[in-house]
Amino acid sequence: MSFHDSVVYQVYPRSFRDSTGNGVGDLRGVIEKVPYIASLGVDHVWLNPFFPSPGRDNGYDVSDYRAVDPAMGTMEDFEELVEALGGHGIGVMVDMVLNHTSTEHEWFRRALEGDKHYQDYYILRPARADGALPTNWVSKFGGPAWAPFGDTGLYYLHLYDLTQADLNWRNPAVRAEVADIVNFWRGKGVRGFRFDVINVIGKSEVLLDAPPGTDDRAMYTDGPDVHTYLRELAAASFGRDPGTVTVGEMSSTSIEACVGYSDPANHELDMVFSFHHLKVDYAEGQKWTTMDFDLPALKRVLNDWAVGMQAGGGWNALFWNNHDQPRALNRFADPGRYRVESATMLATVIHLMRGTPYVYMGEEIGMTDPAYTSIGDYVDVEALNAYQELLTQGLTQEEAFDVVRAKARDNARTPMQWEPGPGAGFTRGTPWLRPANQDQVSVEAEERQGRILPYYRRLIALRKQYPVVSEGSYEPYALDHPDVLAYQRHHEGQHLLVLCSFRAYETTIEVPADFQDSRVLVSNYDDEPTWLASDGADVAVRLRPYQALALLVSCPVRSSLQTD
Ligand code: GLC
Repeated sequence: MSFHDSVVYQVYPRSFRDSTGNGVGDLRGVIEKVPYIASLGVDHVWLNPFFPSPGRDNGYDVSDYRAVDPAMGTMEDFEELVEALGGHGIGVMVDMVLNHTSTEHEWFRRALEGDKHYQDYYILRPARADGALPTNWVSKFGGPAWAPFGDTGLYYLHLYDLTQADLNWRNPAVRAEVADIVNFWRGKGVRGFRFDVINVIGKSEVLLDAPPGTDDRAMYTDGPDVHTYLRELAAASFGRDPGTVTVGEMSSTSIEACVGYSDPANHELDMVFSFHHLKVDYAEGQKWTTMDFDLPALKRVLNDWAVGMQAGGGWNALFWNNHDQPRALNRFADPGRYRVESATMLATVIHLMRGTPYVYMGEEIGMTDPAYTSIGDYVDVEALNAYQELLTQGLTQEEAFDVVRAKARDNARTPMQWEPGPGAGFTRGTPWLRPANQDQVSVEAEERQGRILPYYRRLIALRKQYPVVSEGSYEPYALDHPDVLAYQRHHEGQHLLVLCSFRAYETTIEVPADFQDSRVLVSNYDDEPTWLASDGADVAVRLRPYQALALLVSCPVRSSLQTD
């Protein structure tokens, strides 16, 4: 499968490069940076939404699916971008936000005006006999998931913001519209699609309360209809272009469901994003808390998904960062004392795994969360709602701010740091969100003397050069090691052992006998590994702080140490 040796680069256009000086990134800005993107060696660029939108959720509240937001450019700019990237063999992956529309979308407006045809595009329900909301579901951005539908006495469902009304996928007319939207972008030469929160599209006809004490997400997530709808959509649109790459964002999902979405035999999607590995710093499973990350849990989750998806024939999208996540460097490593080692170690974990790696802009130069000092620096609707909610729960302003600082999505959305100086090479004007630390961390500095950017280029190239990386099977290793995340990969007589220390101190780890004659495929330290001998035989290696070490050995006979 072609996407097995691919790497995707994610561009958040609002924050990538502003060509006009208005402080907001745009498509021409991305065009200007095509040579840089091509220099990374990636195969696809996922662009976050650039469609017309009131911007309540930074473009995930789409008001027109077939146009470019004037603040981001024109359709000609988009076409030029497709061509410019295509010239380097790079495809564009467009973000399809099809679970909901903005309440400013024409369909919603017409529905509100009383047009029955469009009313059936949304999920409208009356209040219950006692006046209570139709179900006890909560919005993922805080508050109830239902809002009054004009003065009709009905309520519309919004699993996200009040201005993001859920579409009624049970209605065949909606499914036809959605296929038509995907086909519109196919017509523009697009051969990559990322489907936003696609596993919540399959709501039942009868919507039920979550039983007391249970999670309401179970009432609408991964429903059986999701698979049917995806197969239908694939057959009517992207499935007609061989070579198209698709990824679904799966919220609060399971391995079983994700095998279903991504098993090629099912003709649904190529791969899935899941988020369980990014919840290992949530106290009691709650995002708006602070907690040191739990390394055993992180290891367990990544391993379970690697093993489970492989066993079922599914395929993971591999990632640490995106526009919704604080920077992994701040969460799982030490950006203060070991920024370079941490960034390169984290990259190694992802890039040598079974799946397709995604690099979120700025990750490849070791960008970190900003050190904002006031709630006024944050703009994201989710963070501002959460801050208010935390105050209501009784936290002090300082405590609530600490949580927002650790968890806000704005952490990832700060402008790409191209160069030092006030606008970070992002804008000539005033950036819409303050950059984090461009005087310390920038593309310019990395290109001149950095170690993170060249390391990313190396990892991306390795996936293309070594089938053991792109196609190899996954095998767990040292699951109980307290400091090191490790795994093996095997492919036609090649064997790879990946060892990644998550600690700021030295640690040691045993190495299977077969790897004692191996060579270093890649490491984020330049010196040769330190082997620790016992009875004249090498049995372990010492890993320095945040060291990543990948050992490669070729032996045609399968090793006795392998489990299968
Ligand atoms: C996805 C997007 C996120 C957005 C949400 C609602 O999770 O990645 O940015 O807010 O869906 O569309």
